[in-house]
Amino acid sequence: MSQLEIRPLRRLDAEFSVPGDKSISHRGIMLGGLAAGTTRLRGFLPGEDCLSTLHALQALGCRVDRVAPHEVVIEGRGGKLLAPAEPLDCGNSGTTMRLLSGVVAGQPFTTRLFGDASLSRRPMGRIAEPLRQFGAEIHCESQGDRPPLTIRGTKLKAIDFSSKVASAQVKSCVLLAALQAEGKSTFREPVLSRDHTERLLPAFGASFRKDPPTLILHGPQRLEGTELDVPGDFSSAAFWLVLAAGLPGSRLTLRHVGLNPTRTALISALLRMGAGIVEKVEDPTPEPMGTIVVQGGNRLKATTVSGSEIPNLIDEIPILAVAAALAEGVTEIKDATELRHKESDRLAVITRNLRLFGVPVEERPDGLAIEGGRTLVGAEVESDGDHRMAMSAAILGLLAKGKTLVKDTACIETSYPGFARQIGLLQEVGR
Ligand code: S3P
Repeated sequence: MSQLEIRPLRRLDAEFSVPGDKSISHRGIMLGGLAAGTTRLRGFLPGEDCLSTLHALQALGCRVDRVAPHEVVIEGRGGKLLAPAEPLDCGNSGTTMRLLSGVVAGQPFTTRLFGDASLSRRPMGRIAEPLRQFGAEIHCESQGDRPPLTIRGTKLKAIDFSSKVASAQVKSCVLLAALQAEGKSTFREPVLSRDHTERLLPAFGASFRKDPPTLILHGPQRLEGTELDVPGDFSSAAFWLVLAAGLPGSRLTLRHVGLNPTRTALISALLRMGAGIVEKVEDPTPEPMGTIVVQGGNRLKATTVSGSEIPNLIDEIPILAVAAALAEGVTEIKDATELRHKESDRLAVITRNLRLFGVPVEERPDGLAIEGGRTLVGAEVESDGDHRMAMSAAILGLLAKGKTLVKDTACIETSYPGFARQIGLLQEVGR
């Protein structure tokens, strides 16, 4: 089993960029596959999750060429996909399974989707419910609403749907189905979740009305292939932002990072904690992209994150918990029950891992209370097969005294190929 051995980092003075955005890479492939003509994605993330989506679209009859390590060209099928010969393997990727369900629900064939052990535990009722209202038949094979899924696609009829969860995966699943459905579909969410699908649809020639958090789309619509530059993934940048903020005397510049405001609430939280961070948007459309500069060493103080801020830093809570461990006082994370339904039960795994590093943590049903400011001590920790937990533990190790061993780190490949190499580079100059 792969593992990462981490020694403390004393100094960080670096400038680099992170791999492409996972959410945008998934969407680019799916929308490109549905569109007529050619789509080119530059800056595509070749992580395992996005490769699951890429292989699924190939199985649905689309020609996808990886013309360079970070560039793919998709020949779309103008809305008419082919029945896959085999069930579609979504691997570890909830985004693949949930968004693809919206795609195949509108196709005149039956598709079976399955995933690994972690994905097989994740709830799918949230997408099965709207897709059934559209008219598709969805069978969740395990425990009522867990994968594998069998989806019998059909000619869809528009729906009016209010989601109980603020989830971009649910929203995108509904939008992908609505593109193929006859009539006016309306979607509402309790709080605005990441809006990549809304930003990308016009680039593919689709139109809809947006009055956040309500969306209205008249279907069916024909998409046209396009060219997209995928920015670096803010969620990957987040690990380095916290590391730099926590290391005295450090300076970090990250270039070509996605700065979509529905993703960057971690920056607001870190600024409230006193971190020295400046972001600058250099290219605003279709996805804001720019530079982040961190000046490390400010004394961090505790904060509270809750309510409408949660969906906009949902993937960053594991690394925010690391910042909380450094900050004076008790940081509270509230309204975050969704974290129990990610690649692992993140509230439980964050609690266990932080305690191993000597940080007092109270685990609550919907969040955490983290008492920061003590010296971190290196530890031996498990990732529970969750990429963000593995990377957060590695950052803790860089900030702790003594040696840290993070076990079961192969999962990092799902979202951040090259993470371990980047740590190696920083350690070479920062010992
Ligand atoms: C994603 C949405 C979020 C996020 C996930 C990627 C997306 O999930 O946690 O990593 O690309 O739409 P939810 O929409 O379920 O919160």
